[in-house]
Amino acid sequence: MKKRIGILTGGGDCPGLNPAIRGCVMRAQDFGYECVGFIEGWKGLVTGATMPLKLTDVESIINRGGTVLGTSRTNPFKKEKEGAVKDSVKNFKKLGLEALVAMGGEDTLGVAAQFYKEYKLPMVGVPKTMDNDLSATDFTFGFDTATTVAVDAAERLKDTGRSHRRIMVLEVMGRHAGWVALYTAIAAAADWVCLPEEPVDVKGMCAHLKVAHARNKVALVVASEAVTIPGEDLGKEELDDFGHMLLKKRGVAERLSALIEKETKIECRSAVIGHIQRGGAPTLFDRILGTRAGVKAAELVQAKKFGNMVALRGNEVVPVSLKEATAKLKVVSKDWIRFAHIFFK
Ligand code: F6P
Repeated sequence: MKKRIGILTGGGDCPGLNPAIRGCVMRAQDFGYECVGFIEGWKGLVTGATMPLKLTDVESIINRGGTVLGTSRTNPFKKEKEGAVKDSVKNFKKLGLEALVAMGGEDTLGVAAQFYKEYKLPMVGVPKTMDNDLSATDFTFGFDTATTVAVDAAERLKDTGRSHRRIMVLEVMGRHAGWVALYTAIAAAADWVCLPEEPVDVKGMCAHLKVAHARNKVALVVASEAVTIPGEDLGKEELDDFGHMLLKKRGVAERLSALIEKETKIECRSAVIGHIQRGGAPTLFDRILGTRAGVKAAELVQAKKFGNMVALRGNEVVPVSLKEATAKLKVVSKDWIRFAHIFFK
């Protein structure tokens, strides 16, 4: 039997995953491995649902958004009582895997770290997330595409804002990290950004928007989905398998828009781009980063450097331990907030 590597993609899909799968499979072939894909993340390992990943399955997927393997937010360790962890280990062994390459964000990589530490399963991690919130890597693929889409949405909103002399509010994703909102706001020449890292300064924002509007500039606000508006109580939020808020009912843009209109007496409209940010063809940056990450993952397997995640440090793709990779979230730093305040006072 040929040496075999398993590959899975977990958590939210994002552009760059298919280039990463392709890179991993094509490099693995150089070392004489065949690859098998687990369907829908950790759920595939738990149930043993797999699909072949041959050259012909992956060679043309570099331009496709999403993930050909499917994904889920399944956490086998949460379902330990139902034997999910035991089944995962059993399936890993039954398939005769030499290693598993887990592509995902902090949750997926956290599961990989746990399997590696507690069950000695040979794991290699590949970081992905449109949120760009993994601290061990400079960038994750998915972020560049998502932010490029968000900037395009902001530019379109500005056309309406300019034509109707309205204030426009755009809500973007990012969960507990404001990177998508911050980069979008700066790149789209917005007038205010609301980040989850700091409570919204409603008075300061409205005063600034009034001034911008008065000099005929399109006043644009970019808000991250998980921001806190002082004085609001949203009650209990639904949680996923990993204990994260699902943020389904947030609609922060709509609430901010009503607030701004009330405060400034200027007509205001809002829009939420939601999952549109996560779809579509990966940008050049995400194609290259995804490909490099996938290739490096196969090289780490070949070198038996398990328990590591591939990370972009400067312009190098290097291994860092899964433990370090999942230790803490990368939220918008004080330096970046200071930088943002040059434009959003
Ligand atoms: O983590 C990526 C992300 O897109 C977040 O920005 C967002 O809060 C979340 O996933 C949405 O998750 P789902 O696709 O499960 O609704």
